Amino acid sequence: MAIKVQLSKNTSATAHRILLCDKASSYASFLSKEDAAAAKAAFDDKQPMYQTVSGGKSTTLVMLDSSREAYKQLEDARRAAYNVYKGLNGRKVAEASLESLAANKDLGAAFVEGAILSSYQFLKYKTKEVKPNTFLKLAVNENTLSKAALTELEASTAGVLLARTLVNEPLSYLTAEQLSKEIQKTGKEAGFSVEVLNKKKIEALKMGGLLAVNRGSQLPPTFNILEYKPAKTKNKKPIVLVGKGVVYDTGGLSLKPTPNSMDMMKCDMAGAATVIGTLYTIAKLKLPIHVVGLIPATDNRPGEDAYVPGDVVPMMNGMNVEVLNTDAEGRMILADALTYAAKYKPEVVFDFATLTGAAKAALSGLAAAYMGTADAATKQKLETSSKNVHEHIWELPFWEEYGQLIKSDLADIKNVGGSEAGAITAGKFLEHFATYPWLHFDIAGPAYLLAEDSYRGRFGTGVGVRMMVDFIKNY
Ligand code: BES
Ligand code: MN
Ligand code: ZN
Repeated sequence: MAIKVQLSKNTSATAHRILLCDKASSYASFLSKEDAAAAKAAFDDKQPMYQTVSGGKSTTLVMLDSSREAYKQLEDARRAAYNVYKGLNGRKVAEASLESLAANKDLGAAFVEGAILSSYQFLKYKTKEVKPNTFLKLAVNENTLSKAALTELEASTAGVLLARTLVNEPLSYLTAEQLSKEIQKTGKEAGFSVEVLNKKKIEALKMGGLLAVNRGSQLPPTFNILEYKPAKTKNKKPIVLVGKGVVYDTGGLSLKPTPNSMDMMKCDMAGAATVIGTLYTIAKLKLPIHVVGLIPATDNRPGEDAYVPGDVVPMMNGMNVEVLNTDAEGRMILADALTYAAKYKPEVVFDFATLTGAAKAALSGLAAAYMGTADAATKQKLETSSKNVHEHIWELPFWEEYGQLIKSDLADIKNVGGSEAGAITAGKFLEHFATYPWLHFDIAGPAYLLAEDSYRGRFGTGVGVRMMVDFIKNY
């Protein structure tokens, strides 16, 4: 359960107060003379936080640096929220209030966002030593956050947390068919339509890539179509979001070495989670934009009938792919989804995928790599959204020469490009199937973190949801 936020007229009486300040804030009136002097000394000493307890009341002052760039101040506020959250929760506090004395009125919302995201826990499989958070209520002063801003935050953070939970669910629960059920449940709750294509329909559509990857599995694949189409829309043609839904990646016959590289491969549907979390949020907020989500889903296993290195796979768009590594499965299933996307005559298509270790090696967990054919204006808007929400993205070069690396002697293209530029050659592979403006986001780094990183948490992060919601909101 995440922290519940309530707007409140008067927050001065609460037992635990959080005050957001900048250099110019007059916080002294909230404190005793001695405390105010001690707080000033702490802030002069460049400490970002000051805490005091007196008369059964505690006050936490957070000092934010208003000389920093606006987007960095927002991130400072989110990260401060994490520190405050951990501190108060560690003291078993149940409830606190928040008031911002800072001149920058956006900082309150950023702090609340950070607090909600910091309060997430995934305890479903704990039966012993369950340690649920205690700090589950935050009363926010009405001068600190508007009703509209709170509504937005509630929807977007819920989308992120939903994505995290989907990523954190292991294959033992989240098979392709179960993922489809979760999507249907989410569509009902948020207000978007869902169509699930079963294996028969996938065969009828000749989605050869998805079927090839699924051959080694005991469990059927699904192809999921999510559509949010409000009565009034600003866009004539839809934005299509494609998400990689590999519910578990063993590598197939090109088996991954265990333990290190396979342990976290339940995260290989994080791209799907990004799409689901985004659709959830924009439908909840009733944003006036037509958005379609496409999610091909399967596990990648080395079962008896698994596709083999050397196979040639006929894809939905008629191309033949020479498979030289069954662990390059993400691009196989995404390719068919990208082919399917063309039927919407989309304005633009974005795909999200935990596609390559190379993207992770290049940028770490800090950023997603992206590349593709959409115009500079679209990229610029995404870069702006990325900055607003502090989900880093970095564009990789996409020169046509890289396409040479996936030329096949036997078929039209091969599914691996060799040891160099692995994130880019994966993108070049997908480009063959994208016949419209398109960008590919490789989230293999930031989708799943082994070490806790502030409010982004540990394990599934739900990365991409906040950026896409911001992008669609400003579309
Ligand atoms: N799911 C993996 C990529 C991945 C790696 C995701 C690390 C999250 C963390 C993907 O299917 C994969 O196996 N990619 C291969 C491609 C290679 C065989 C061309 C890789 O990156 O090694
Ligand atoms: Mn793989
Ligand atoms: Zn994979």
